[in-house]
Amino acid sequence: MSFVEFDSFYKEEHPCSTVFLSANKYIRKMKGGSQSILVQCDDDRFYVVKMAGNPQGPNVVANEFLGSVIAGAVGLPVAESMVIHLSDHFIDSEPDIWFELPSGRKRPDAGLHFGSLLVGQPSGPQRPSEYISPSRINSIANRDAFLGMYILDVWANHQDNRQAVLLRRSDDNAQEAFFIDHGHMFGGPDWNFRERPGAALHLESSVYSELWHDEVVSSWISHFRTVLPEVLSWVTSILPARWYNGDLRSLMEGLIHRLSNLTELVQKDATRSRQFAYQNSENDALRLSDSGIHKLRTPDTRSAFYRDLAVSYAKFIHSDRVCFAKLGS
Ligand SMILES: Nc1ncnc2c1ncn2[C@@H]1O[C@H](COP(=O)(O)OP(=O)(O)OP(=O)(O)O)[C@@H](O)[C@H]1O
Ligand SMILES: [Mg+2]
Repeated sequence: MSFVEFDSFYKEEHPCSTVFLSANKYIRKMKGGSQSILVQCDDDRFYVVKMAGNPQGPNVVANEFLGSVIAGAVGLPVAESMVIHLSDHFIDSEPDIWFELPSGRKRPDAGLHFGSLLVGQPSGPQRPSEYISPSRINSIANRDAFLGMYILDVWANHQDNRQAVLLRRSDDNAQEAFFIDHGHMFGGPDWNFRERPGAALHLESSVYSELWHDEVVSSWISHFRTVLPEVLSWVTSILPARWYNGDLRSLMEGLIHRLSNLTELVQKDATRSRQFAYQNSENDALRLSDSGIHKLRTPDTRSAFYRDLAVSYAKFIHSDRVCFAKLGS
């Protein structure tokens, strides 16, 4: 199946085209190693697009997709993800879209790319910020999510510092955090697990202040053990093949294995990074039990949303002999 065939299929306004968006306006280039771009799509909303083939490495776009869908599915606040089509016409209309490499400029391929729904607006009072002020951490309404995200990141062997953007709520002036940049989860661009204690923590360590409670940590781990096996099984079925070149099956096996010893992984990472030690009465060793599963405050509703999305993709794949996995390959 060639990409041209997909293109004509797409233009026929097949019902499944609603699961993809097209970029129709270039806004600006974003900072950072992946050289992402801010675009406006045909739903009028703004997306930070990480393009396939970007200089950060072979599997980063797959990681972005897996990381955001998985984190959303377990109830963590992430910027929503979307599959975005960039046409040849769009790419050719704006020279800034090209990658800048040491060897020169490189044109991204037209086709499907990863989009992260912009939190807030590109300008004005609703422009998001990445700055976390230590004196204002308690104004982050959903700050407890940083502990859940840390545990998910340890499981996913995130090789980079956790990033979040904050959006100020107009009604009560509180801030809300949304996690972004999952490109170095899953052992990084080469899908190679290696333990680097503390690597996945947010650089502003005060954001974790007083969050650690053994029973909350145990609750997150139990929740992940319950939800993640099913999430992994459907999220991999909707991952575009052109976004990765690693061994997806062995990545999934590794992740399932890490789920079985997540308590030890978290205990080790937290102890060695010493991030949470001062918050724990035991001080020299964190002791997590598997009991004391408390009711999570995190909603699980997004899991159903993403599962429905997966069902749409699956129908799309099977109904028209168009294999999503082969698109663009
Ligand atoms: N969904 C989003 N909403 C708002 N801002 C975003 C979103 N996604 C990314 N950004 C902004 O775009 C910038 C680049 O994104 P990101 O960190 O994912 O790219 P990167 O290439 O990995 O960057 P770096 O190499 O600096 O980590 C972020 O610093 C953030 O300010
Ligand atoms: Mg980043």
